[in-house]
Amino acid sequence: MAKPKKRYVCQACGSVTHRWQGQCPECGEWNTLAEDAPATVFSQKHHLSSGGRAVEFVALDAPAEPLARRATGLAEFDRALGGGLVPGSAILMGGDPGIGKSTLLLQAAAKIAKDGGQCVYISGEEATAQVRMRAERLGLADAPIRLAAATSVRDILTTLGGMDTPAFLVIDSIQTMHSDTIEGAPGTVSQVRGCAFELIRYAKENGVALVLVGHVTKDGSIAGPRVLEHMVDVVMSFEGERSHQYRILRSLKNRFGPVDEIGVFAMEGKGLEEVANPSMLFLSGREEPLAGSAVFPALEGTRPVLVEVQALIVRLQSGATPRRAVVGWDNGRLAMLLAVLESRCGLNFSSAEVYLNVAGGYRLSDPAADLAVAAALVSALADKPLPGKSVWFGEVSLAGEIRPVAHSNLRLRESAKLGFDCGFGPSEADNGSPGLNYRGLTQLANLVDRVMGSQ
Ligand code: TYD
Ligand code: MG
Repeated sequence: MAKPKKRYVCQACGSVTHRWQGQCPECGEWNTLAEDAPATVFSQKHHLSSGGRAVEFVALDAPAEPLARRATGLAEFDRALGGGLVPGSAILMGGDPGIGKSTLLLQAAAKIAKDGGQCVYISGEEATAQVRMRAERLGLADAPIRLAAATSVRDILTTLGGMDTPAFLVIDSIQTMHSDTIEGAPGTVSQVRGCAFELIRYAKENGVALVLVGHVTKDGSIAGPRVLEHMVDVVMSFEGERSHQYRILRSLKNRFGPVDEIGVFAMEGKGLEEVANPSMLFLSGREEPLAGSAVFPALEGTRPVLVEVQALIVRLQSGATPRRAVVGWDNGRLAMLLAVLESRCGLNFSSAEVYLNVAGGYRLSDPAADLAVAAALVSALADKPLPGKSVWFGEVSLAGEIRPVAHSNLRLRESAKLGFDCGFGPSEADNGSPGLNYRGLTQLANLVDRVMGSQ
């Protein structure tokens, strides 16, 4: 009998090769190829075109049950989920270590459990004593959660099969789970995929809302195969700078709701507190305007959040290569914006170090941030503060034009509500806020003239 051919699967992108190599030919990552369990000889010999049962077709407009969502009681978590947990769905939650995933899920489980829902929390990373200590610190030790430390999926599913079906099941984390039907150590692609498959099948068959905690890699993607993201219904990421208090729960994929809503939390001494009105959170609250600081009315789903963008420019005397450091924004986008400012507006950043920081540990993903970043950079370069109480938004094109962005009226309304009296943005914006003076800009050069020209 011919020996089954070995397969190697890239742990980063999931591509398959038949020869081990140091570098994945698909994604270029190093040392990510690992041997995968081979397909069985049986499955290779048999065709799938006969011998099955006929599947049933239904009309698209066949009557469907409305989604019965279950609110967790943590309003910010429910908001990010699009209105609560859907029974029989699987959620993958990623986030840096120590960001607060276990804390958030323990708090959500405790809320549900106190509300009468059966909750099971399986910890594969921490001993039960550690989880109990955390619960005590959070003041949740009395919540009737069924807690266990386990890593064998067979043990977990056997146990779950012998008890009342829970409403909420947390697996913390999927990388620590192990299935004895699959070769390989916990955390390898085939183990992660196989364990997730079994757990998701259990959740779907029994109407359980399942949360799988997933580790993230250095570049922020969820460790293990991308297929994990395809297998689940919702992918969420819990973000924030560990040195800051604020945490943002974002949904990156949601089969049952929108993906642009966020939940905002603050990590306090007694766990995560919900932040219901985050629009002031990322502002310094300073009265005097400073050079290099611009306020950006960001939009997160339907909620506007005002964020302060800070820039610092340091002129270098020597010929050393200048540094560019960014916290909270995209590095490549900053390079692009600097290039546009140099080539379209005649500014010179080439011999200067550029530092950009988004206040409060917030991470900007809204493309409308371009103009606010440009305003902060020009203000820092000129060492002149921007007009006090002003907000800036708009997308900048490579040609240096300011392009329109979505929901300018929402951004301006929130800015006016928080006491800002002047807005700068694309010329086509609609300003529905009488208290706010809006100035449309068409070119980045208009911004430069305005900042450089004003005293
Ligand atoms: P944790 O939920 O263990 O993070 P993850 O599961 O994402 O790895 O959170 C750990 C961090 O949160 C830890 O560094 C301490 C902090 N923390 C608080 O500040 N207050 C608290 O009440 C708790 C429980 C944790
Ligand atoms: Mg944890």
